Amino acid sequence: MSPARRLSLIKLAVLILSLLPAAELALRWQMGRMGARPVTEALLWTGDWAVTFLLISLAITPARALFDWPPLVTLRRRLGLAAAGYALLHFTLYVLDQKWNLVVVALEIVKRFYLTIGFVALLIFITLSITSTDGWQRKLRRNWKRLHYLVYPLGILALTHFFIQSKANVSDAVMASGLFLWLMLWRLLPRDIRNRPLTLLGLAIVAPVLTVIVEALWYWGSKNVPPMRIVQASLDPLLIPRPAHIVLAAALGVLVVMLLLRIRFWRPAPS
Ligand code: HEM
Repeated sequence: MSPARRLSLIKLAVLILSLLPAAELALRWQMGRMGARPVTEALLWTGDWAVTFLLISLAITPARALFDWPPLVTLRRRLGLAAAGYALLHFTLYVLDQKWNLVVVALEIVKRFYLTIGFVALLIFITLSITSTDGWQRKLRRNWKRLHYLVYPLGILALTHFFIQSKANVSDAVMASGLFLWLMLWRLLPRDIRNRPLTLLGLAIVAPVLTVIVEALWYWGSKNVPPMRIVQASLDPLLIPRPAHIVLAAALGVLVVMLLLRIRFWRPAPS
């Protein structure tokens, strides 16, 4: 198969995969399998998928560099748009939950800090989506890149909103934050060392440790739980998988895949 045909098939697969969560939601809704509070259930579902696609789109640049596959970058825009689409659906469901009363919606957004954060994140999503086209990229030139750096504050805002909304159990928000930290640390590292196996091994240690710190600080600050209890829970094999374990597994997974690809495609230097 030609590389161009393979790429268009991959693009189609990404499109179908990004629509699957929405299709599942529609099906469950249609079949009345949404529990006692269907709108709230759909709100949580779309919020989770907005964050998931945001993280996947942020993972494309490291994946391209580590797995040495440049065409991957063409998927980034689609994945970012999928994230924005779920965020917009999430907001629409919130408006539906408020019986389409836009005055109440606006007042709630102004009054409640977690909704204000969500709203700012949504505005960034919309701005980045509109300007994601080739036309805008040409028009804005160097400023396009500057504008699209907003994806990093967007990630922080979305995760803060996720934490505050998660109420008692913040495990998913902690895990998403750990993965986000891995992605940010990789980007901050100098280009000449960030793709080395040893660097990735270091990241596989640092990212889970930071994940435990984030979780401990959250429970300490919000529930007055002593931080050492979170550290102990993360070291207890009976409690696997905790968020830090999943971050560790993901980070080691990246290292292993990269090493396998390098072994598979390794060629001796011509003599
Ligand atoms: C104006 C914009 C937004 C509003 C009004 C809003 C509103 C809400 C509400 C009311 C909930 C809690 C539902 C409940 O527990 O009953 C929620 C949860 C959530 N939102 Fe938003 N949100 C907004 C923007 C965003 C954005 C931009 C994202 C992601 C990029 C996002 C991601 C989430 C996540 C991940 C949850 C928690 C889901 C869970 O606990 O499983 N939200 N949001």
